[in-house]
Amino acid sequence: MSCFNPIVALWCLSFLKLMFMHQIMARRHNSVDPTKGFISLPFNQSYYIIQKPYDVPEDKRYSFIDGVHKLWVFSNDQPHTLTSETKPRTEIAVQGYNYSSGVWQFEGHGYVPQGTSGVCIMQVFGAAPPHATTLMVRVYNGSLMYYNQTVLVPRIYDRWFQLNVVHNVDLAKVKVFVDGRLQLEADGRGGTSHTFKCGVYAQSGDSFYMESRWKQVRILRKCD
Ligand SMILES: *[C@@H]1O[C@H](CO)[C@@H](O)[C@H](O)[C@H]1NC(C)=O
Ligand SMILES: *[C@@H]1O[C@H](CO)[C@@H](O)[C@H](O)[C@H]1NC(C)=O
Ligand SMILES: *[C@@H]1O[C@H](CO)[C@@H](O)[C@H](O)[C@H]1NC(C)=O
Ligand SMILES: *[C@@H]1O[C@H](CO)[C@@H](O)[C@H](O)[C@H]1NC(C)=O
Repeated sequence: MSCFNPIVALWCLSFLKLMFMHQIMARRHNSVDPTKGFISLPFNQSYYIIQKPYDVPEDKRYSFIDGVHKLWVFSNDQPHTLTSETKPRTEIAVQGYNYSSGVWQFEGHGYVPQGTSGVCIMQVFGAAPPHATTLMVRVYNGSLMYYNQTVLVPRIYDRWFQLNVVHNVDLAKVKVFVDGRLQLEADGRGGTSHTFKCGVYAQSGDSFYMESRWKQVRILRKCD
């Protein structure tokens, strides 16, 4: 018997190719649970503050009804403090879980209405200068994006989506999952203290009105 049978070899190759394709398809279509191996930390109103234009009352830019946080801001609003020179924002700023090591995760169900554009809706705050952030999830023209660089999901308006952001500080990596699918892995940007934020923070090219809604927000940490 010959050691090399071209028919068998060809059959083997097709079989391997099929298996490989199957794996890729499975990876693309089956969502995963990004929170596996993580513990959910206590999270309620004691663990965040609302940052909003300094000269308007909170209830003119934020509501919390039936478990849904609704945050909005206008492009001609003031920054969140008198001395800040940043663009306007209304954000849930997580307090009390500033971290500098380990693996941390933000989970939330987000909603962005048609028309909201040029805005950051979720961020991992803290990085090494000149950067201020490790990650920004933004919306431009109906696409969910990593900064203004990579499209995560092309059509995001007018529907709820699940966002999971995993920040591995030790390996300096961030991962973004949308509806349980890994959409991006990017490098960290240094820094010694990080915290999560979500809401609306105007960026260049901002629409006049910006809004995002959030529910079932969780902060998680990887078990040791
Ligand atoms: C928030 O949770 C903490 C810890 O679980 C608890 O001590 C505190 O009373 C809670 N605060 C509110 C406003 O529910
Ligand atoms: C946590 O980080 C935020 C944002 O950088 C900062 O304002 C706050 O003072 C920090 N809190 C603690 C306890 O370090
Ligand atoms: C969004 O659309 C506007 C107007 O069409 C365009 O000028 C801008 O470059 C777009 N932004 C991105 C990030 O694609
Ligand atoms: C993306 O952002 C960078 C930094 O803010 C800016 O220089 C660049 O022009 C932006 N690119 C687009 C396509 O908007």
